[in-house]
Amino acid sequence: MYLKSARALAALFLCVFALGSQAQNTAPKLPNVVILATGGTIAGTGATSTTTVGYTAATVGVDALIKAVPELQKVAHVSGEQTMQIASENMGDAQWLLLAKRVNTLLARADVDGVVITHGTDTIEETAYFLDLVVKSKKPVVVVGAMRPSTAMSADGPINLYNAVITAGSQEAVGKGVLVVMNDQINAAREVTKTNTTTLDTFKTPELGMLGYVIGGQPHFYRASTRKNTVDTEFDVTNLNALPRVDIAYTYANVDPTAVNAFVAAGAKGIVHAGVGDGSLPIKVRPALSAAHDKGIVIVRSSRVGQGIVARNGEANDDQLDFVVADTLNPQKARILLMLALTKTSNTKEIQRMFYTY
Ligand code: SIN
Repeated sequence: MYLKSARALAALFLCVFALGSQAQNTAPKLPNVVILATGGTIAGTGATSTTTVGYTAATVGVDALIKAVPELQKVAHVSGEQTMQIASENMGDAQWLLLAKRVNTLLARADVDGVVITHGTDTIEETAYFLDLVVKSKKPVVVVGAMRPSTAMSADGPINLYNAVITAGSQEAVGKGVLVVMNDQINAAREVTKTNTTTLDTFKTPELGMLGYVIGGQPHFYRASTRKNTVDTEFDVTNLNALPRVDIAYTYANVDPTAVNAFVAAGAKGIVHAGVGDGSLPIKVRPALSAAHDKGIVIVRSSRVGQGIVARNGEANDDQLDFVVADTLNPQKARILLMLALTKTSNTKEIQRMFYTY
């Protein structure tokens, strides 16, 4: 009798064990996501929990950022690298090239499914668009920041990082180009812009709209950018150690050509003119831009308005002036595309094609 029930107990135990290991085998495999930390407010610290302005950006290391969100371990195999530790107003060509090369190296590995870049929000849209043009992989690349430092009450960094890792590890984000994930929203690198100096909902794609949400531990996409990106661009940073100098001349009432002339003297290879309205050229600035063009500098007409198309041959005769129009790119993004375009050609027709392609 005793022997019989011992056997039954053993059989039951084996059965439960077998079911358990079967369940384990069918558990979804977690993606491998590498976090490249660059600094910014997401890694910032303030004097008190209510310090949401006047804090110090870029002080917390990547290991501490990961440790602060233990939930990450449930959604991905996460590893971190401290690529740099800067406030993003100090981001520049050298940092972009370093970051892009590291992303390309990581994504070429079979054991990396996606990359997250933690970044200051002030220039996040520029870094994201640069990467969108030079990353050579369809695997997800998500750039993320925070509006409140890590020490603040209701800091947004942890949930933003969590959502960014989920998105970078997802199949849904494959082939969508570089993404900016913040405030539960997913935006395309080409289109997203910072619209408010301090609020959490600052990142928007005005008029065209965001791509989707990250809700309930999952990304939900509703649209995609129609412009070519990543593996479908002609840009390659592999052998680049510097980028051509491109400056932005901002226009305002009563502006004169001082800035344009200074950029020419500084050796600019391209100038993005942030004009008023539909990229209009003030009468006092236009001759300086034409003179710059005659010296071989490529001029791109963009608009300081921030939304809408700058129409070719609209407010200026671009064909006659041999200028390029920025299409819908804001001046800071037009600058990035012009820098990369100039690594390939200074032919304005070719560069105009690129502005209608990317
Ligand atoms: C920065 O851009 O590095 C500082 C501001 C921020 O991250 O929100």
